Amino acid sequence: MDKSMLPRHVAIIMDGNGRWARQRGKERVFGHHEGTESVRACSEFAVETGIEYLSFFAFSEENWNRPDAEVSELMRLMAVSILNERPTFHKNNIRFIVIGNRSRLPEDLNRDIDGAMEETAGNTGLTLVVFLSYSGKWDIEQAARKFAAAGAPAGHFGDYLATAGIPDPDLLIRTSGEQRISNFMLWQCAYTEFYFTDVLWPDFRKNEFRTALDSYASRERRFGKTGEQIKIEISDSK
Ligand code: IPE
Ligand code: IPE
Ligand code: MG
Repeated sequence: MDKSMLPRHVAIIMDGNGRWARQRGKERVFGHHEGTESVRACSEFAVETGIEYLSFFAFSEENWNRPDAEVSELMRLMAVSILNERPTFHKNNIRFIVIGNRSRLPEDLNRDIDGAMEETAGNTGLTLVVFLSYSGKWDIEQAARKFAAAGAPAGHFGDYLATAGIPDPDLLIRTSGEQRISNFMLWQCAYTEFYFTDVLWPDFRKNEFRTALDSYASRERRFGKTGEQIKIEISDSK
């Protein structure tokens, strides 16, 4: 793949785990379990292709409203995944970050997250970001509070978002056929390219990821300018 057409930051709304399980006559949590394999496959693929930032929307603030049993199973899965993957993160030079309203997470999960974040903080390969108990409106609100307390310095609002230091997503993928943002990175997706697929998250593996990247590579991002201006900019940079 042409590296210049590779997105620097890919964000994924992993959706369709429940439907995937139901289609097989199984409990929804079975789909969440299988979905963790897709997370692993996509992370490996990101390392192989040289994507710099890969973000997964794993649990939204609104997902706290799901049945208690499903919420606890999702929290348990998260803890197990972190413990299992931690050695692999470090071996593959992956920097692991969790973003969200962490005050709502179970204490022991927060401890595991801190451990994995500290251990991988100095890694320089892929930055893997997991959004847990996150919502775009929560992020903008918490940023606005800090921004106001700092005296509202002009032009720096993004520095107060939970994603400060992470470039805005170039490509946002959503699986399972839903075409909505569901309160993900509202501010950060201002100029993000969207890719929607009917494939359910547990079936989204390397080939599906490659297809999404091909779609991205075929697009012309204009950022408000004209197509003619963009063509001149591209030919000047070559
Ligand atoms: C995505 O799959 C996982 C989470 C939101 C935690 P869903 O659980 O939303 O699966 P569907 O959309 O009900 O099929
Ligand atoms: C979005 O999926 C949130 C995550 C993938 C974590 P949902 O399944 O919660 O979204 P809606 O409710 O269908 O919009
Ligand atoms: Mg869903």
